[in-house]
Amino acid sequence: MQIDAIKAKSVQLYRDVVTQLNAIHIDHLERKWIAISMIILALMVGIIVIDAFFHGVNPPSKVETIDSASLHLSKEFAEENLGVQVDNKGNVVVRMVAGRYSFFPKHIDVPAETSITFRWVSMDVLHGVHIPMTNMSTMIVPGYVAEITTTFPKPGEYPLLCNEYCGLGHNHMWSNISVIAKEDWTAKPTTPAPATQGGSNNE
Ligand code: CUA
Repeated sequence: MQIDAIKAKSVQLYRDVVTQLNAIHIDHLERKWIAISMIILALMVGIIVIDAFFHGVNPPSKVETIDSASLHLSKEFAEENLGVQVDNKGNVVVRMVAGRYSFFPKHIDVPAETSITFRWVSMDVLHGVHIPMTNMSTMIVPGYVAEITTTFPKPGEYPLLCNEYCGLGHNHMWSNISVIAKEDWTAKPTTPAPATQGGSNNE
């Protein structure tokens, strides 16, 4: 019985809204343009949703958790796995750790015109990473892996900056990326010697 009452009430409400909307005088041409803009809006939202679905676009902080306190012990982000690697499918993967106040490793070489997957983790507090002149920017939340796939169209030197306030040394927290022409870039062996990691001290 009660469901019937709710149903009757909603139908009445709908009718009232329609009557009131009809009572408002909207010019014929205006009505037409409202409809056109609604269609454009629906089309654009539709394109974004479909594109994200088919290309598997996710926000950088899709829920993949990691224990920030034991990064050095965990397999993926142990020191010898940091930096640039090519996985067995030929994808270039960069693993970096953010910590007060640096990114590790401090310098990496990546190829231009190649899809590169960056995987970031924080060893302590909230950091961010931003590469000026590119569309790459994400938060690095402790306990989560931030993942971004991007392509550098041109060779060059890019700074890599922390853009979330993380403490007194925040403005010294940066690193460099050298983007090298695709044909000049050679993948380092999967487990490079620790001496090739790190690079110059930027303090
Ligand atoms: Cu790290 Cu600011």
